Amino acid sequence: MVLVVQELPLVCLVLLLLCREPGVDAQAGQGFTVQQPQAKVTVAAGETLTLNCTTSPIAGPGPTKWLKGWATGNKTVYDQNNKDPSSRVTRAVDGSDTDFTIRIRNVQPEDMGTYYCVKFVKGDSGDDEVFQRGSGTEVSVQAKPSPPLVSGPEQRARPGQSVPFTCTSGGFFPKEIGVKWFKNKNLMAVHSANVTEWRRKTYNMSSTAMVTLQKDDALSELICEVQHSTLPGPLRGSYQLSRVLRVPPSVEVRAEPSPAELNKTVTFTCLVKEFYPANLSVSWLENGIEIKVQNVSRTRKLPRGLFELRSQVEVQATEERNGSTITCTVVHDGQAPASYSASLGGWISNPAQDGFQMGKGANPLSSLLLLLWMGVLLEKGLLGGLLLFLFQRMKRKASEMLPCPAPPQSPAAGSWGSATARSAL
Ligand SMILES: *[C@@H]1O[C@H](CO)[C@@H](O)[C@H](O)[C@H]1NC(C)=O
Ligand SMILES: *[C@@H]1O[C@H](CO)[C@@H](O)[C@H](O)[C@H]1NC(C)=O
Ligand SMILES: *[C@@H]1O[C@H](CO)[C@@H](O)[C@H](O)[C@H]1NC(C)=O
Ligand SMILES: *[C@@H]1O[C@H](CO)[C@@H](O)[C@H](O)[C@H]1NC(C)=O
Ligand SMILES: *[C@@H]1O[C@H](CO)[C@@H](O)[C@H](O)[C@H]1NC(C)=O
Ligand SMILES: *[C@@H]1O[C@H](CO)[C@@H](O)[C@H](O)[C@H]1NC(C)=O
Repeated sequence: MVLVVQELPLVCLVLLLLCREPGVDAQAGQGFTVQQPQAKVTVAAGETLTLNCTTSPIAGPGPTKWLKGWATGNKTVYDQNNKDPSSRVTRAVDGSDTDFTIRIRNVQPEDMGTYYCVKFVKGDSGDDEVFQRGSGTEVSVQAKPSPPLVSGPEQRARPGQSVPFTCTSGGFFPKEIGVKWFKNKNLMAVHSANVTEWRRKTYNMSSTAMVTLQKDDALSELICEVQHSTLPGPLRGSYQLSRVLRVPPSVEVRAEPSPAELNKTVTFTCLVKEFYPANLSVSWLENGIEIKVQNVSRTRKLPRGLFELRSQVEVQATEERNGSTITCTVVHDGQAPASYSASLGGWISNPAQDGFQMGKGANPLSSLLLLLWMGVLLEKGLLGGLLLFLFQRMKRKASEMLPCPAPPQSPAAGSWGSATARSAL
């Protein structure tokens, strides 16, 4: 069995010699040959392919042609008697009777196939008949993949969200291609590439990687690296994660000094920290009415690529303002506004008077506080105990009556104020 297979080419050669030579003799003189010296040619897409063919000088009437493919599906690429001026095919030696080498410029992957140099003769019917052909040249066209393109989601996403990214590259041959993903030079977990046939004999590749965004990804970069046999080195496509990252700010509001002194200036500061992208606006409200911003710092870039902004308003701590709520409203990157408040309520102290001050229209609670204070002065006497009991009872009632009894606070020096964050809208 093995022997038979090994001897097969020899048998063929003998058969060819026996069968072909008499035919040639019969029709076109002795020893006519068609030589195709190249068995295989590899060419890069876009370049010029040279297909060599030489024939014996003596031949009968009839054209020499180049055919792509044999039998069904053959295509005439070049015809000595029927030249197409618009063709990509030209003769290497114009008008030669023995050198039928052709050049095909701008070779495309679809030009792949086996090409035959064929000598035709006029048959009895007057049609061209195949007289002799060369052994064929197998052409493979190698096409480089297009530079990889990385695309991300349409909408920005927050840290912690897992987001898909897709890398595409196309128009390559052969089909085998390697894809690697890197995040900031670190190789990411293996991602399979999906290779599909695009046009005839070319392939497109698509690979998807899931990335969980991090707070400090504003400076991160994704790289898709494509490796192909036609390339001297890998091709890279990159994507800046800042294009899809949205880090919502953390906001703090504080009032200084705290507690505020009557008729003195109180500075409210809205510190908007660690946000991305930079696009952010701050507005201030006093009891729901907008107030003019006096001092907005420039947006500052932090080392990790995030931004920070400070906005300040100065407010006179007048008696009428006692109990006012100052609100800092932050709109970040087209998102719903978020409001953060600090209150002047109960903070305004009057240094001119020691102890409790009875404001105009003092409420029952303040009166009671005064009474309680007097009670304490009586040094734990019966009156004190009774008053304490009464106070606690009435305080319960008072808190049911009053909608918002902001209790006086004693903020630690330098600490942030009683900023209460609440989301509006
Ligand atoms: C192919 O033909 C061209 C033009 O005749 C010649 O210059 C070249 O050397 C030939 N190459 C081979 C491999 O025969
Ligand atoms: C080429 O194809 C045509 C039909 O498309 C056929 O008639 C012809 O015999 C074929 N020629 C060769 C050399 O196979
Ligand atoms: C395949 O890749 C090529 C080149 O990158 C591109 O022009 C073509 O649109 C892609 N085709 C498909 C179906 O993705
Ligand atoms: C605060 O200002 C008001 C009006 O300007 C004034 O009537 C009041 O006496 C001032 N109070 C103090 C403690 O300075
Ligand atoms: C704004 O505030 C900064 C510090 O918070 C201060 O140095 C600067 O003088 C202020 N500018 C104005 C116009 O008030
Ligand atoms: C502001 O109100 C608080 C109680 O809500 C009170 O203790 C304080 O004395 C008031 N200050 C002024 C200046 O009216």
